[in-house]
Amino acid sequence: MTNKKAKKSKAKAKSKAAAKRVVKLKSKKPAARKPAAKKPVSNGLPRPSSKPWGQAGKALDGVRILDFTHVQSGPTCTQLLAYMGADVIKVERPGVGDITRGQLRDVKGADSLYFTMLNGNKRSITIDSKHPKGREILDRLIKYCDVLVENFAPGALDRMGLTWEYIHKLNPRMIVASVKGFGPGPYEECKVYENVAQCAGGSASTTGFREGPPLVTGAQIGDSGTGLHLAFGIVCALHQRLRTGRGQKVLTAMQDGVLNLARVKLRDQQRLAHGPLTEYSQYGEGIPFGDAVPRAGNDSGGGQPGRILKCKGWETDPDAYIYFITQAPVWEAICDLIGKPEWKTDPDYAKPFARLPRLKQIFTTIEQWTMTKTKFEVMDICNKLDIPVGPILSMKEIAEEPSLRKTGTVVEVDHPTRGKYLTVGNPVKMPDSVTEVKRSPLLGEHTVEILSKVLGYSAAEMAAIKSSGAITAPEKAKAEAA
Ligand code: COA
Repeated sequence: MTNKKAKKSKAKAKSKAAAKRVVKLKSKKPAARKPAAKKPVSNGLPRPSSKPWGQAGKALDGVRILDFTHVQSGPTCTQLLAYMGADVIKVERPGVGDITRGQLRDVKGADSLYFTMLNGNKRSITIDSKHPKGREILDRLIKYCDVLVENFAPGALDRMGLTWEYIHKLNPRMIVASVKGFGPGPYEECKVYENVAQCAGGSASTTGFREGPPLVTGAQIGDSGTGLHLAFGIVCALHQRLRTGRGQKVLTAMQDGVLNLARVKLRDQQRLAHGPLTEYSQYGEGIPFGDAVPRAGNDSGGGQPGRILKCKGWETDPDAYIYFITQAPVWEAICDLIGKPEWKTDPDYAKPFARLPRLKQIFTTIEQWTMTKTKFEVMDICNKLDIPVGPILSMKEIAEEPSLRKTGTVVEVDHPTRGKYLTVGNPVKMPDSVTEVKRSPLLGEHTVEILSKVLGYSAAEMAAIKSSGAITAPEKAKAEAA
C-alpha cells in the first residue's frame, strides 16, 4: 500500500468510526425520544407537570404589574390579575393614596370597604410621580415590570411625563393598559364614572320600565365590567408578546365595555327594522314600537319569556320574588304545576307563538301559584321539574350563603385597622391556579420593601429618597386624607 493509499484508508476508517460515533450519538437521541415521537405535537410547550393540581404555581406567576389605578375600574382589573398570581405593585400618592381609601368610610380611620374590596393581593408603594426623585423610582419600576395599568383622566399619564413613547423606549416589552371613559372621538377628553358609562353604552336606555325613565343597574358594568375587559386585553397582550417580544398599548373604553355587555340590545335595534320584537311584553299588549329599542322591564332578553313574580311574604320582604322562565320544552310541566293542564292542548296556549299575546295573563296565573310558596320552595319544586327559575337573593342572603363561602366566592379576610371584612374572591376558578385572597395593603405598606428588595436601592440611597420628599407626604396632604 502506498503512503497515499494508507493515509486514505486510515482517513476512511476514521470517518467510518466517526460516522459510527455520530450514528451512535444520533441513535442515542432518537432512542430517548422515540416514545415522544408518537406523542401529539407539543407546540414547544414543556412536558405536562407531574405536580398535583394546584401545586404548580399560579397562572400569572412571574408577571409584574405596575399598578397606577384608582377608584374602581382599574383596581378591579389589577385585583383579578393579582388573584391569578401576578405581583401587583400599586403606586399611590404619598399621604393620600387611592381616593377610595377614604370614600364611603364605615370605620373611622380605617381604609374603606370600597378600597379594601378592590385592592386585595396587592403591594402598595407611595411615590410622588411628579417629584424628580419619584420619577427616577418610577423609571426603575417601568424597567422592572411587564405591564403598566392606569385609569387616570385622559392626558394625566402624559402630564406626568409617562408618554407611550417614553415608556416604550425605556422598556420596549412593557404593555401599557388603560381604561378611559370613551375611545377616540368627540368625547375622548371626558372624565367618566360608572353611571356615565352605563348611559353612554346603551345600558340605561334599555333598562327599566317602558313608562318610566332610563335606569342604571346595580351591577357595576361600567367600572368592574371594563376592568374585566382590560384584564382580558392584558393577558392577550402578554401572550402575543411571547411571539413579538414587544409590548403594546391596550385600551378599553368604558362606553365600549358597556356596549359589549349590552350587545343583545344592539341586536334588537337591528331586528326592529324587520318588525316588532315579539318577546317584549309590549308586543303582546299591542303597544307599537318606536324607532329605538325600548325598555323591557323584567322581560327575558332571550327567546324564552320570563318575569319576576311575587312569592310568599312579598308584602313585607322586598326580595320575596322569583324570576320565572316559561321555557318552551317544559311548558307542559308548568301547566300541571300551576293547575292549568288544559293549557297543554289549548291552541291559544300550547305553542310559544300563540302564547306571546297572552304573556301578561299567563304570568299573572303563574304568580298566583308562586305567591303560595317562598322563593326557595319555588326553586326546589321547579328545579326538580327542570323549570328554570331564580330566587331574587338579597345581598344579606348572598353574604350568608354557605356554598359561596365554601367555593371562595365570598371570602372573609382580616385587616389590621378595620378587622374582619367580606370580599368577593376570584369568580374564575381554576384547579391549577388556586386563589388565596389576601387583605388589601395599608398605604405605602411595601414602600421600603419594594425600594430595597425589588429595585435594589442601597441604605444610603434609601435615606436620600426619604429625605427628598418623593415618597412621603407633606403634612398638609396627610391631614386632608385623615
Ligand atoms: N403622584 C402625583 N400625582 C398623582 C399621583 C401620584 N402618585 N397619582 C395621581 N396623581 C395625579 C394625576 O397626575 C392627576 O394630576 P393632573 O390632573 O395634574 O394631571 C391627578 O392626580 C388626578 O388624576 P385624575 O385621574 O384626573 O383624577 P380625578 O379624581 O380628577 O378623576 C376619574 C377621576 C375617575 C373621573 C378619572 O380618573 C377618569 O376619568 N378616569 C378614566 C375613566 C375611569 O377609569 N373611570 C372610572 C373610575 S372607577
